[in-house]
Amino acid sequence: MKLRAGFLQFQPVFGEIGQNVRAIETLLREKDFDLMVLPELCSTGYQFMAREEALSLSEPANGELGQALLALAREKQGVIVAGFAERHGDEIFNSAMAVGPSGLLSVYRKAHLFFKEKEFFSPGDSPFVPVDTGLGYRLGIMICFDWIFPEAVRSLSLGGAAVIAHPANLVLPWCQRAMFARAVENRIFVITANRFGTESRDPESLLTFTGGSQIMGPDGELRAQAGLSEMVAMIREIDLSASNQQLNPTNHLFKDRRPGLYRL
Ligand code: ACM
Repeated sequence: MKLRAGFLQFQPVFGEIGQNVRAIETLLREKDFDLMVLPELCSTGYQFMAREEALSLSEPANGELGQALLALAREKQGVIVAGFAERHGDEIFNSAMAVGPSGLLSVYRKAHLFFKEKEFFSPGDSPFVPVDTGLGYRLGIMICFDWIFPEAVRSLSLGGAAVIAHPANLVLPWCQRAMFARAVENRIFVITANRFGTESRDPESLLTFTGGSQIMGPDGELRAQAGLSEMVAMIREIDLSASNQQLNPTNHLFKDRRPGLYRL
């Protein structure tokens, strides 16, 4: 099965949910896609200064961002995955929603919180199980720093994901290269949607986000890559039949595993 799949790389303005949602709508309205991945925390920005601030900017999946994405998903007849600060009672999760033409498909809550995120967010409780899109394929979701735990993509691919949607706000320099390994060791597509630009809400700490959003193929070939500070939506046709763990006639990447020898 072939999908027009891609990412939106942009630069959210901290705290300006309405402005960021309108920017997303403008950038995506002119595009046609089956699957679109947006960055982590795409409606709020990243660098919260206090838990109360994160709480005041958080919203449920059917908030302003979710409603706008649902309308776009219906218009485009595609699936959109986007990171947001999720309000759940008194808790806040660093989450990603997947919406499709039929409505909300899932909410994934980031399992591996990075650095100061631990001050604002509760650790996610979502198992790494792919979403059945109802459109003929399974979609895995992880958020940013989850990448450094290979168990995340492995679990999603063992669960039948053909493609991973990876919303990100990357500040470390390794992820884009490391996704080569995640893709080839599971023979799966990985779409990393990163943001670019800087945030320095506290004069002591400047965050520079690394851009370079990409679509990595199961063969380790980059199908698309954005520049380091480019506002762009890139879409490529990907053939999900290439997400196939049969490496050669005698090696199957899942069937050849030796879990009895591994330390879990
Ligand atoms: C990150 O997980 N946002 C670095």
